[in-house]
Amino acid sequence: RELSIVLAPFSGGQGKLGVEKGPKYMLKHGLQTSIEDLGWSTELEPSMDEAQFVGKLKMEKDSTTGGSSVMIDGVKAKRADLVGEATKLVYNSVSKVVQANRFPLTLGGDHSIAIGTVSAVLDKYPDAGLLWIDAHADINTIESTPSGNLHGCPVSFLMGLNKDVPHCPESLKWVPGNLSPKKIAYIGLRDVDAGEKKILKDLGIAAFSMYHVDKYGINAVIEMAMKAVHPETNGEGPIMCSYDVDGVDPLYIPATGTPVRGGLTLREGLFLVERLAESGNLIALDVVECNPDLAIHDIHVSNTISAGCAIARCALGETLL
Ligand code: ARG
Ligand code: MN
Ligand code: MN
Ligand code: MN
Repeated sequence: RELSIVLAPFSGGQGKLGVEKGPKYMLKHGLQTSIEDLGWSTELEPSMDEAQFVGKLKMEKDSTTGGSSVMIDGVKAKRADLVGEATKLVYNSVSKVVQANRFPLTLGGDHSIAIGTVSAVLDKYPDAGLLWIDAHADINTIESTPSGNLHGCPVSFLMGLNKDVPHCPESLKWVPGNLSPKKIAYIGLRDVDAGEKKILKDLGIAAFSMYHVDKYGINAVIEMAMKAVHPETNGEGPIMCSYDVDGVDPLYIPATGTPVRGGLTLREGLFLVERLAESGNLIALDVVECNPDLAIHDIHVSNTISAGCAIARCALGETLL
């Protein structure tokens, strides 16, 4: 039971500064010691220089040309060069960790960093299923994205959906893009763009929205999700979880860039990862989109960071009894 905490303090996949502070805040909350207390031996794995990327972001914001972002039908894939560079660094770090047979716990940063984590995990475990916990599907292509923010697009890159798109950013061409639509299941969706709904439908992707959580209950939903990604083995097989904290309702986790009301309760959000830990099949976890700078009160910061840490601990074996 060896684990590396991969630090991914990157904010260029969206436009709100502060999300790069997530890893620092979670470590300050005592995350590493609490994981050690669960019986893991841990190491820190810094993947990038936080200040360097923040500096580049500021430069881009100041520049009127918008750097090398790509304009397609009036929509820009914003900061694609930075996202390409940062996600490759995350890929390198997570690759090193998984190849050493260690568990990668990656702390974001915005959700674009999952381009790196999932690609690295799939190299090592080609059969892995991916559970994507989120209010959003993050499967916009560079053509369908309404915002141009690449944290809304990681799944499309992981599936290679931008490969045939003209002007696909050069910086992201390193992404293998071999995630099969059969190997992903979503839980917690409630703000899915029209273009994304079409992709989910056309590719037959397993997606459990808040409607399904309300209809069937969270336990049935996680069982269905595990079976969706490992149908031949009744849900058994390696599973990676990419957890956007905005999947949980902003009542519990307010300090995040794109909050959407009507989400998972904190208990539902923790149950999901408790169940994954219990399954013995979890091989990697991301916790992303904690942005302490978006809190209006101090209590919002501590609620958000303590919930983010609890997600990690529950996924790594912490139980209530
Ligand atoms: N669907 C919206 C977009 O593509 C929001 C994405 C939010 N993503 C996230 N990782 N919080 O811009
Ligand atoms: Mn989200
Ligand atoms: Mn929306
Ligand atoms: Mn997300």
